[in-house]
Amino acid sequence: MAKKSNSSELKVSKIKEGTVIDHVDAGMALIVLEMLGITGREGTVATLSMNVVSKKTGRKDIVKIENRFLEYTEINQIALISPNATINEIKNFTVVKKFDVQLPEVIVGFPKCINPRCITNAREPQVQTYYVKSVDPLKIRCKYCNTNMDKNDVVKQLTKYSGITK
Ligand code: CTP
Ligand code: ZN
Repeated sequence: MAKKSNSSELKVSKIKEGTVIDHVDAGMALIVLEMLGITGREGTVATLSMNVVSKKTGRKDIVKIENRFLEYTEINQIALISPNATINEIKNFTVVKKFDVQLPEVIVGFPKCINPRCITNAREPQVQTYYVKSVDPLKIRCKYCNTNMDKNDVVKQLTKYSGITK
């Protein structure tokens, strides 16, 4: 029997192969795309849903990217700005892997430290290393200069966006 549909139901096509990032914090979909280096001009097939009703959290964004599977680092970047996201890997129209993003206790290699004098910004830099102090709201502390960074700082360092409102 066909699934009953009503006007509040989300109507977005299923994808054949690729990644569905679900439960993205409402309003963060474009930032997720930019962090993944997707502009559209490279030909990536992607579908965004913004501020749609979610069973769990009120509102959410969904990002569907065809023919792309995410690396560990990319998943951690998403976790920084959207700690409740779920990654679904789709093969031949079927969800073959589903997991929640999870920030490690230590983040290595990104983002840029906001302190210009930090040794990670020096001419012979140390690799960025941060201790995760809090996931939501985000607070990470630079191992080298002890500067704290929040979600807004991270978005500014990882994208061209100059700021977010929450
Ligand atoms: N999806 C898709 N293409 C597919 C299969 C799934 O775009 N071929 C999407 C669904 O639209 C949904 C997400 O991937 O946004 C997860 O699919 P599924 O696990 O089937 O949905 P739910 O059970 O509703 O997910 P959850 O329990 O994680 O909320
Ligand atoms: Zn620093």
